[in-house]
Amino acid sequence: MNKILACIFDLDGVIVDTAVYHYRAWKRLANELGFDFTEHDNEKLKGVSRMASLDLILGWGGLAKTQMEKEELAARKNAWYVDMISQMTPAEILPGAKEFVEACKSAGIKTALGSASKNSATILEKVGIDHLFDVVIDGNKVSKPKPDPEVFLKGAEALGVPPANCVVFEDAIAGIEAAINGGMRSVGIGSPDVLGKANLVVSGLDKINIEKLKELEASDVTA
Ligand code: BG6
Ligand code: MG
Repeated sequence: MNKILACIFDLDGVIVDTAVYHYRAWKRLANELGFDFTEHDNEKLKGVSRMASLDLILGWGGLAKTQMEKEELAARKNAWYVDMISQMTPAEILPGAKEFVEACKSAGIKTALGSASKNSATILEKVGIDHLFDVVIDGNKVSKPKPDPEVFLKGAEALGVPPANCVVFEDAIAGIEAAINGGMRSVGIGSPDVLGKANLVVSGLDKINIEKLKELEASDVTA
């Protein structure tokens, strides 16, 4: 039985719903390149880094690009994305997210953000919750994408908490796998059909509280 001493939160799809902005910007890029992709395809981009997302999208369009062209395309998409997130307000925090992170802090549980996004700092600042996390590990601080556990292990290390005492909150299957690979418990945010490998799956952070979190102490570290 490992006590829960820290919670590590993914950002996109867990704390804020920025997935729709990523989708719109990637779709615009694909359309400019002469093809389209569906919202169903977009699921495969969740939790995936910017350059890996671009590679997947170019694959769907049957296009091959040089590294330099890819850099330009990714920068173009990111400029549109940054434009959209620069208009975000606190109203775009997902239901229960702020309250649950605050409850963790009040219960003496440490909090970290563990996101693949290089835009994490801008988003946290825009929605006014940058003070809620003891540690922020984002896409600028990691080199290996989820399902590699690097982002969560760096978070745990910075908090000074062993992985077995951490719980990860994730909406992407790659993120749940990253938690498992790092020896951490996980809570899936979304559908059990997709996130069944997690120790617990809820539809949002409004559906969990400290009591339910503590119940996870009895479950195995690997799901
Ligand atoms: C993840 C998102 O959090 O961050 C992905 O789920 C996104 O969709 C990735 O591609 C990288 O984000 P950014 O902001 O660095 O392009
Ligand atoms: Mg996510």
